[in-house]
Amino acid sequence: MTTCWVIYNGSLVSDKFADQARLVADAAERAGVTAKLMKNYETMMDLSSELELPDFAVLLDKDILLGYFLKSRGVPVYNDPAIIDLCDNKATQYIQLAALGLPMPQTIVAPKVYPNFSILESGYFERVIEKLGFPMIIKEGHGSFGMKVYLIEHEAAFYAKVEELRGIDFVFQEFIRTSEGRDIRVNIVGGEIVAAMYRHSETDFRANITNGGKASPIELTEAQEQMAIKAADAVGAIFAGVDLLFGENEEPLVCEVNAAAHIRNILNVTGVNVADAMISYILEDLR
Ligand SMILES: Nc1ncnc2c1ncn2[C@@H]1O[C@H](COP(=O)(O)OP(=O)(O)O)[C@@H](O)[C@H]1O
Ligand SMILES: [Mg+2]
Repeated sequence: MTTCWVIYNGSLVSDKFADQARLVADAAERAGVTAKLMKNYETMMDLSSELELPDFAVLLDKDILLGYFLKSRGVPVYNDPAIIDLCDNKATQYIQLAALGLPMPQTIVAPKVYPNFSILESGYFERVIEKLGFPMIIKEGHGSFGMKVYLIEHEAAFYAKVEELRGIDFVFQEFIRTSEGRDIRVNIVGGEIVAAMYRHSETDFRANITNGGKASPIELTEAQEQMAIKAADAVGAIFAGVDLLFGENEEPLVCEVNAAAHIRNILNVTGVNVADAMISYILEDLR
C-alpha cells in the first residue's frame, strides 16, 4: 500500500489552502494511494527523534524547511523544496529566467538595504527611474494573489515605496501596458500542459482572480505553449503555474512561475483537475 502526505499551511485561515490539499488528497485516493491531509505544523521537525513517514509527500506549502526535513529522512517531496525556494522569491526566480534567456519584462533586482538605513541620497534610484520610467511595477520577492505587486505612477509613490520596502527583497519591473488587466495562467505537470485559462480584470492592472479578475478557458497558441513549458523547465518546477503576459503583437512574456500553484480556479474554469495529473506523474516517477 502506497501512502502519502498532502501538506498545506495550517496557519493560514482561508479555506482555500485546505481545499487545494483536499483536491490533491482525493486524486491520490482515486489512484489507490492512502493520503493524509497534513497541516505543516502537525509534523514536528524534531531532529532527534524517529518519525513514521509516508512513501512520498506533496508539498503545497512554502514551508521549505519542512520539505528539506522530509527529504533528509528519505521522503520524496513534490515539488522539490529547493525549487519551491527558488520560485518563492520572485527575485531569485527572475535571475534564473533571465539567465536562460526567457522573454520577460525588463527587470532590475533591488539591492539589499538594511531596515534602519537608507540609500536615498546615493543616486541609485534615479538610475532605476531613468531606465524604466513611469508607470513602473514594483514587486516584492514574496507575495501571491497580486497582493505584493504595485503599479507605481510617479516619483512620490516610487520613493515612498522603496523606503517602505527597506529590508525586503523586491524587484523593479517594466510595466507591460499591452497586458494591462490581462494574463494567462498555464498549469504544467512534468513538462506537459494540463490546463490553461485567460484572466482579465476590468478594475485592476492585475488579472489575479483573488484580486477580482474573471477567468475563461483559452486555446493556447504554439508560442504561448512553448513559452510556458520553457519557463517551468527553466526553474525546474515539475508542478508549475506559469503566468504569461501579452507583449507587443501579443507575443508571450513570462510573468512568473508558481511552484505551489493553486488548482481550484482552473478546475472550476476548465473542468480539468490538475491533481490527477500530479498524482499520476508522481506514481510514474516513483516506479
Ligand atoms: N510587468 C508587468 N506588467 C503588467 N502587468 C503585470 C506585470 N507583472 C505582473 N502583472 C500583473 O500583476 C499580476 C500579479 O503579478 P505576479 O507577478 O503574477 O504576482 P503574484 O504572485 O502576486 O500573482 C499578474 O497576473 C499580471 O496581471
Ligand atoms: Mg501570479
